[in-house]
Amino acid sequence: MKKNVSGMLAAGFVLALIVGLVSSAPAADSEADVERVCSACHSTKRICLVLGIKSEAAWKDTVTRMTHNGAQLPLSRVDEFAGYLAGLNKGQGPLCR
Ligand code: HEC
Repeated sequence: MKKNVSGMLAAGFVLALIVGLVSSAPAADSEADVERVCSACHSTKRICLVLGIKSEAAWKDTVTRMTHNGAQLPLSRVDEFAGYLAGLNKGQGPLCR
């Protein structure tokens, strides 16, 4: 029995490690994915123009509308994209290059 408990602890530790790695990744991933997905139809300058102006709720509406326009991202990532965009200041980041 003792063996099982420590085995479970080890499994829990490995799981925590994986979860930690996965949840620490999104920042860089969001940036690369937003840049890739959102540059398919129009210039990212169009997005750059409204950085620091739209609230996170407004970005959710915009990103959701882009999926209706045909943007290639799953609806489950709308919040992540909106959060990333809402966190950028005017003129900041790769979307403004
Ligand atoms: C499949 C093509 C397509 C993709 C991909 C796309 N857009 Fe758009 N976008 C459009 C079209 C068409 C318009 C103009 C009509 C409209 O506003 O819906 C537009 C307009 C915009 C505007 C200006 C209007 C406004 O609400 O301020 C912003 C900002 C914008 N897109 C952001 C984004 C973001 C962020 C992404 C990535 C999630 C994205 N777009 C991906 C097609 C696309």
